[in-house]
Amino acid sequence: MRFVLTCDPGFEDVVEKEVMEKVGGKFLGKLANFQGKVIIEAKPSKALLTLRSVHHVAKLVASFQIEHEDERGLEEIGEKLGKLNLSPWLKGKKSFRISSQRIGPHRFTSIDVQRVAGKVVQEKYGLKVDLKHFQLNLKVDVFGKEVFVGIPITSKSLAKRFKLRFIHPAALKPTIAYGLIRMAEVREGDTVLDPMCGGGTILLELADIFRDKVKILGGDINPKFVKGTILNAKANLLSKYMKVVVLDATHLTSFFPQSSVDKIITDLPYGVRMKRRNLKELYMKFLGSSYEVLRSNGRIVALTLRANSFRSLALNAGGFKLVGERVIESGGLYPHVFILEKLI
Ligand SMILES: C[S@@+](CC[C@H](N)C(=O)[O-])C[C@H]1O[C@@H](n2cnc3c(N)ncnc32)[C@H](O)[C@@H]1O
Repeated sequence: MRFVLTCDPGFEDVVEKEVMEKVGGKFLGKLANFQGKVIIEAKPSKALLTLRSVHHVAKLVASFQIEHEDERGLEEIGEKLGKLNLSPWLKGKKSFRISSQRIGPHRFTSIDVQRVAGKVVQEKYGLKVDLKHFQLNLKVDVFGKEVFVGIPITSKSLAKRFKLRFIHPAALKPTIAYGLIRMAEVREGDTVLDPMCGGGTILLELADIFRDKVKILGGDINPKFVKGTILNAKANLLSKYMKVVVLDATHLTSFFPQSSVDKIITDLPYGVRMKRRNLKELYMKFLGSSYEVLRSNGRIVALTLRANSFRSLALNAGGFKLVGERVIESGGLYPHVFILEKLI
């Protein structure tokens, strides 16, 4: 069976690796470029709902192409949808709704697609539209000239996996934290640090995956956030796997011994309330201080919106090799992920 998985744009390869490890099957590719959608072929299994890099999973019922992206495309969608046999999927259902996502230069909207598709299902199968208490949600997504018809099997995003007693104003999605952890190549026995942990998303994700198999350290300069992280860790029964303290990421040797950390994984402040010059100074001091506490060949995986500043500082800091950089999308912003390796 084919499934469409939704993820954070830029992390599609992370999904591919995780699916191969946990679910098996075949990775058929990205559904649209940089849209955070991939198709896989796999046996239906509960393992699909344990994927950490994925937000939503939908069964792919059918796919077809349209020739036009203007109003005629809408008619084509109605006609081609009408020719599909959706009975096996609609069996026993009395009410439905259509949801739709549309990407491309169409002369129609996703609401138009919902209207046309809804009419077809209503007339052909006699089901009632119920936008609130529907028994079946049929997705009709249009990406350029490709149309995908699917049935979601997740009602709530798999990213909503932690109980949060404290919400940081710039909290990361756990799916992104997972992607960063993979980029760091964390291994059992490693000591891993997030020195700007905010509400603790990266630490929660680390603890949930590795439990006591890695040493998890964290901190933030703001005591309120450290308290929030501890509350979040307790709420998820993960506090015994981490040590979180108030610290300054620009003076890490005051808190941790030199050459004692294998991986630093962090989501840097973007400087919304900070002058550009001060942010550069913070990044520079963070890099210098990280160098001191990292073991040789240790890694920094850092997420930042200020990519140009961070890249030039990382390249000029000396002592680090830039082994990777990629852009991802998060909440309409495009931060970069940097992977640095400490040179011996
Ligand atoms: C983008 S937020 C991290 C959000 C976090 N990943 C989460 O999911 O909640 C960056 C954090 O860096 C902290 N910070 C800024 N300067 C710092 C410093 N010198 N040392 C430690 N933490 C610092 C801020 O207090 C803020 O909580």
